[in-house]
Amino acid sequence: MNSRHLIEKEYLLKIKELKKHNKLYYDDSNPIITDSEYDKLKKNIIKLENNFSFLKSKESPSLSIGSKPSKNFLKSKHRVKMLSLSNAFDLNDLINFEKKISNYLNLNNYNSIEYSVEPKIDGISASLTYKNKKFILGLSRGDGTEGEIITDNLKTIKDIPIFINKKNFPNDIDIRGEVYIGKKEFEKIKDRFANPRNAASGSLRQKDPNETKKIPLRFIAYTFGFCNEANFKKQSEFLNLLKTWGFNTNSHNKIITGVENLVKNHQEFEKKRYDLNFDVDGLVYKINNLDLQRRLGFVANAPRWAIAHKFSADSSFSKILKIEIQIGRTGALTPVAKIKPVNIGGVVVSNATLHNEEEIIRKDIRIGDTVKIERAGDVIPHVLSVDLKKRSKDTKKFIFPKDCPSCGSKVIKDYNKITRKYDAVQRCSSEGYKCEKIAIEKIKHFVSKEAFNIEGLGKKVVEKFWDLNFIKFPNDIFNLNYSKIEKLDGWGKLSANNLKKSIENSKSISLDKFIFSLGIRHIGQENAKLLSHFFLNIKNFNNMSKDFNFNILSNLDGIGGTQIASIKNFFSDKINLTVISKLTQILDIKNVVQNNKGKLKNKTFMFTGKLSSISRAEAKALTEKNSGKILSNVNKKLDYLVIGEKPTTKKIKLAEELNIKVITQLEWKKLLN
Ligand code: IVH
Repeated sequence: MNSRHLIEKEYLLKIKELKKHNKLYYDDSNPIITDSEYDKLKKNIIKLENNFSFLKSKESPSLSIGSKPSKNFLKSKHRVKMLSLSNAFDLNDLINFEKKISNYLNLNNYNSIEYSVEPKIDGISASLTYKNKKFILGLSRGDGTEGEIITDNLKTIKDIPIFINKKNFPNDIDIRGEVYIGKKEFEKIKDRFANPRNAASGSLRQKDPNETKKIPLRFIAYTFGFCNEANFKKQSEFLNLLKTWGFNTNSHNKIITGVENLVKNHQEFEKKRYDLNFDVDGLVYKINNLDLQRRLGFVANAPRWAIAHKFSADSSFSKILKIEIQIGRTGALTPVAKIKPVNIGGVVVSNATLHNEEEIIRKDIRIGDTVKIERAGDVIPHVLSVDLKKRSKDTKKFIFPKDCPSCGSKVIKDYNKITRKYDAVQRCSSEGYKCEKIAIEKIKHFVSKEAFNIEGLGKKVVEKFWDLNFIKFPNDIFNLNYSKIEKLDGWGKLSANNLKKSIENSKSISLDKFIFSLGIRHIGQENAKLLSHFFLNIKNFNNMSKDFNFNILSNLDGIGGTQIASIKNFFSDKINLTVISKLTQILDIKNVVQNNKGKLKNKTFMFTGKLSSISRAEAKALTEKNSGKILSNVNKKLDYLVIGEKPTTKKIKLAEELNIKVITQLEWKKLLN
């Protein structure tokens, strides 16, 4: 080989290396080298290019956004949370959505609900704060509560006005919308990113705004967060105002009434979706009336007043190479088909879920079969059906394990008391940390975005640290040996230090997030919040490890038998108690700050009977908004029993015996003023 070839070979190897790290960073969020190592690699490539003019590559950093996006942006709290959306897939889902809203709002004629219909661009959402008409702060969504400060990068986007010289522009407002890259523009850089969304995300998170500038990002505005003077009453009015203020809005936005019309429009739009210059994964429906939006509020992370109507799935055929069992955080055993990689709607798929054993039997899916695989948006791809015509003689039936493949414990099915049936899902019967796979998943949950939100401790890192015996329990995260970490392959001083910083930062945590992070089965974010408001501080919460009357929890509206059994079970496990006790010593778990300004503060309420002109759900929400508490039983802790039409006489009787005030709906309303 002559020297020119050798140089070329070295150069291409370096380019390949760079491409690998770009992918690890942008697509997998799992960088394995430090910023400086990355920069060094880049410099070496450019140096080679400068010395040898025959070296050329599409991937050359000299042609593209060069430096790696930074992981270390400062953060800032959103003044109003950035929510996500629940999904609808068909007419039925939409009918249910509208029914729920109408029940909540106590509407009789729900066919008259007006929706603002907007394409759901698949990009990256951003929140822009304008004070005195000037763009002063730009945040990424982050975990919805807190985002990264990316103001300077956002300022490079031409669609984002820096100053708005309009009289009617509020003097303190957050404008929210989607940052994306057009499909045509993406074509030019598509070798470096899996899809336009990744390109937008990577470029928005560049340390150097000059790098962001090189990618032609766009911005479409669609909602607001905080707003000090909202002189608009409808979402559609707001969208029109946005235009007059100089923002881009989507030209496909519409107002539609009636779910049948929504579906018709969806069908028409779906046909057009590939002709648009942006990636869309569905349509967003928002109740147009902002007063109704306010009344409806939100649950957990999604508003009650909006829904995303997804487009139908993309599908393709491929062959099942083998079937593996995945074990989840709650011990559920999920069969996953490893398939011959296939491109479905722009994404390469090599795994597809088979859900559970019953599904495999019902669809008669065998190893070696050619199957139809479906992928819809961000949902995990699944095996839809078998192409029986293509079945060969050597396909093999899959035998579902009787014992957990990770720890050998028996596999069980839970009995559902309500449906009086056994669950389809099979579980490892081992408790928590005793099963290795469950333990790893529990730790991944602990560090996840909605829980401790530890950046730099992604799934792959958790697995690696587990293998190295660095982390076996959540508390180990706070006693890591960083001098060992920095010596690991792919690590260095800088990345170890960054990890240390984000772990230190995570130590101060709210009680509800702490409870959620423990991963108690059936205790999601919403229930964790309920429990935190009941216990108020970690000391009270930890009382559950002592002689505790768990039935008290049934007073909490939303906590039922299933949840109580699960909490009890959790606190009966010695390992869990040790983990909690160690964590309590290390962490700074914040007490719950009660909203104690409301008129109903320190008072407890229960409703019985049909209320007039307001739904039970809204009455409860209003009570809570005014600092009152809702109980779900009549007992000594109850202050008021509010009665509507046809109340349960038993409850009234019991309330009277216990000297609890029994009041009418009107009297409750007077308390609220
Ligand atoms: S409204 C109400 N409007 O969808 C809470 N979001 O799943 C959602 N998105 O994070 C914000 N187009 O990135 C809204 N017209 C639109 C949207 C839209 C795309 C994205 C946005 C958000 C995600 C929620």
